[in-house]
Amino acid sequence: MLLGTQKISTRDHLEVGGCDTVDLAAQFGTPLYVMDEALIRHNCKQYVDSFADCYGESAVAFASKAFMTTAMCRIIDQEGLWLDVASAGELYTAKCAGFPTQRIIFHGNYKSIEELELAVQSGVGLVAPDSLAEIEQLGAVAEDAGVRQCVILRCNPGVDPHTHRLISTGQEDSKFGFNIRSGDAMKAVRKALSLSGLKLVGLHCHVGSQLLDAMPYVEAAKVMAGFMKRISDETGFEIGILNMGGGIGVRYIEEHNPPTIAQWAELISKSVTDAENEAGVCKPKLMVEPGRSIVGEAGITLYSVGPIKECGIPEPPGTRTYLAVDGGLSDNPRPTMYDAVYSAIIANKAAAEPVKEYRVSGKHCETDMLISSVLLPEAEAGDLLAVQTTGAYNYSMASNYNRFTRPAVVLVKEGTADLIVRRETLYELVKCDLMPDRLKV
Ligand code: LLP
Repeated sequence: MLLGTQKISTRDHLEVGGCDTVDLAAQFGTPLYVMDEALIRHNCKQYVDSFADCYGESAVAFASKAFMTTAMCRIIDQEGLWLDVASAGELYTAKCAGFPTQRIIFHGNYKSIEELELAVQSGVGLVAPDSLAEIEQLGAVAEDAGVRQCVILRCNPGVDPHTHRLISTGQEDSKFGFNIRSGDAMKAVRKALSLSGLKLVGLHCHVGSQLLDAMPYVEAAKVMAGFMKRISDETGFEIGILNMGGGIGVRYIEEHNPPTIAQWAELISKSVTDAENEAGVCKPKLMVEPGRSIVGEAGITLYSVGPIKECGIPEPPGTRTYLAVDGGLSDNPRPTMYDAVYSAIIANKAAAEPVKEYRVSGKHCETDMLISSVLLPEAEAGDLLAVQTTGAYNYSMASNYNRFTRPAVVLVKEGTADLIVRRETLYELVKCDLMPDRLKV
């Protein structure tokens, strides 16, 4: 499976963005995240153009939690997308990159007062309150600042997205959003309309992540349009923006078959338009906020292969071959958290026939398996393993577990490789540690 600009070079090496991955590993070390700029930009354009063609007035926000660095913010700005942030840290990063704050939407089920103040002071375009208390707090913060903050309310449409339970968010018992069926969402609308510091402009929902099937969106669109109609009937207020969240899946392994961005845009646009027509509401501006589908397939992680071990297994009798790499849980917690599956290529033998089944393990003091089973050419210590589709929620969820330093990130395009995050140093692991006097030697 080759994605984006990936190719097999004449040296039989995996190439991405016109750069030889073996050279990248030699220059920047491993583990190394490599991001394919052309694919990221292509995906952004696909989103913006497809929604404009299929729906009309629309806006696309990149969910920065999937992959956020200051350089990424510049790309998103240049492509004309909005940015979804969900913490002071994400907002701060966007501001450091000079991202126009009026194109930022601030999410989260619990924003601190400091975060609400930062959002308002920064001139964030939209805030999405997620509780009645937060609506009141935001109203007060905005009033104190002498502004009217535009808000969209995060609603819970009560739709089961049928994805991993930890990334399901639209079902009835989710911690996110105002429940529409229980009446909480209508209370939130009335509250937001009553506060002079707030300007209610729209509604939001996000049913879940890594969805390979669009049905949950069709259901969510119906619930949201029905709710818009009730709002209009009961309060006379017309919703101007409907944000349908993110969630479209990507290809981690050959068998995954997500819709293309263009197909998804067509389907969402049609479901939302049909639902709006059926409910008889004025057509709002449509917003979506994809994360994974913009960056997921654009990323690979390069690892150096270490020890390869044969282990006997009793059931079924046989052997298992463990291939250890120089990263694992700390640079990719997804297999451990969500049973996520991945595919891989031996980057320095990219043209060789896959002949043997390996289990790829990390080097943490955990059973941190990266891939439970993958067919590879005969591998040896010193090879370079490229794990694919690691562009979303890998770097952004990386940790310092076992005091590993976080890897560098390289952005590749047309034969140029730019470091956009340098590798952490050992010193950085202790720079926030403090030594009380009584413990000093
Ligand atoms: N909008 C909101 C409000 C969200 O909470 C999310 C993701 C998105 C948009 C973007 O969803 P996407 O298009 O990326 O599916 N760490 C998990 C994924 C958590 C998703 C959280 N919210 C993983 O690694 O699979």
